[in-house]
Amino acid sequence: MLVTGAAGFIGSHTCVDLLTAGYRVIGVDNFVNSSPRALDRIREVAAGAADRLEFAEGDVRDVATLGKVFATTPVAAVVHFAARKAVGESVTMPVEYYDTNINATLRLVEVMREHGTRRLVFSSSCSIHGDVDVLPIQEDAPARPTNPYSRTKWMCEQILADLCAAEPGWHVMALRYFNPVGAHPSGLLGEDPRGIPNNLMPYLQQVAVGRREYLSVFGDDYPTPDGTGVRDYIHVMDLAEGHRAALEHIGDAAGFRAVNLGTGTGTSVRQLLDAFSAACGRPLPHRVVPRRAGDVAELVADPTHATAALGWRTRRGLDEMCRDAWEFQRRNPGGYDGAGA
Ligand SMILES: NC(=O)c1ccc[n+]([C@@H]2O[C@H](COP(=O)([O-])OP(=O)(O)OC[C@H]3O[C@@H](n4cnc5c(N)ncnc54)[C@H](O)[C@@H]3O)[C@@H](O)[C@H]2O)c1
Repeated sequence: MLVTGAAGFIGSHTCVDLLTAGYRVIGVDNFVNSSPRALDRIREVAAGAADRLEFAEGDVRDVATLGKVFATTPVAAVVHFAARKAVGESVTMPVEYYDTNINATLRLVEVMREHGTRRLVFSSSCSIHGDVDVLPIQEDAPARPTNPYSRTKWMCEQILADLCAAEPGWHVMALRYFNPVGAHPSGLLGEDPRGIPNNLMPYLQQVAVGRREYLSVFGDDYPTPDGTGVRDYIHVMDLAEGHRAALEHIGDAAGFRAVNLGTGTGTSVRQLLDAFSAACGRPLPHRVVPRRAGDVAELVADPTHATAALGWRTRRGLDEMCRDAWEFQRRNPGGYDGAGA
């Protein structure tokens, strides 16, 4: 399996899952949003399977790097995580987001085609839907992305669907993640974003170790039970297992398919704050501030299709997500490189 973005949050956990399940994995990453130390951690966590991991440092947009990988090792399938992923940043740096996310996907499928690999699992996002009318969200809900990042994900899905329509023999699965959080239970692997975290859980983790002063709760006047935004948080190890299930079932049907990966359960910001405070053993400082532009009240997956198509369902709950995220942050207060930001 070729895994792009292997050193990143979801990529690193998926590598561990695939290695321990017996796969050979070749990772590619340019470390634009990750640390090379994540690779050492993958090897440490996957212990007995570490010799099945190879790695090539490089940019997925660079066909020479990719071509060399495909020329030296037969690749059965690709899991394509490498992308820029911060919604806010995408609004201020749209060109960089379109360049990385679209061009990496185009170059990748070109090189795959050249080498006869036609099985691809693509990282997509529930954010392609924008503000939804119907909850829980099914795969055929309308796509109305509201920012450049989400548009890149929707455009890549359309490119891949067009490719599958034009060229028989491709098997492509776009996995639409809801809100991945948590960490490997060893505390050795976790989410270590560069700069100020964009997402709630890593922000909370950094408040808990004193790297951030307090959590800003963006709005408590949403039409939700406690007024704060509701999301479908999914443990990153459940997500990793979802990728393995996707690879195992990708041969079941040719063409393009989209599959939601979520739990089907909504959790509010306040509920997550309480659960994480319980995990780290103290209440965490927070302040309610006005709503953030572009945020929606509630996003929750309907994961029925994933269970039917992949035989997969989530196994880990909110307490486990918080416990594992805290264990990672407690053991690595300054992140993999110890510096923090
Ligand atoms: N984390 C989330 O909340 C979330 C939600 C939905 C979808 N996704 C998608 O899942 C994927 C993985 O997300 P993540 O949270 O692990 O992000 P991440 O930033 O931790 O991992 C992405 C990895 O890709 C690498 N990368 C980026 N551009 C590259 C390039 N041009 N060439 C080589 N490597 C490159 C980065 O260095 C990083 O290691 C992304 O495609 C993201 O858009 C993430």
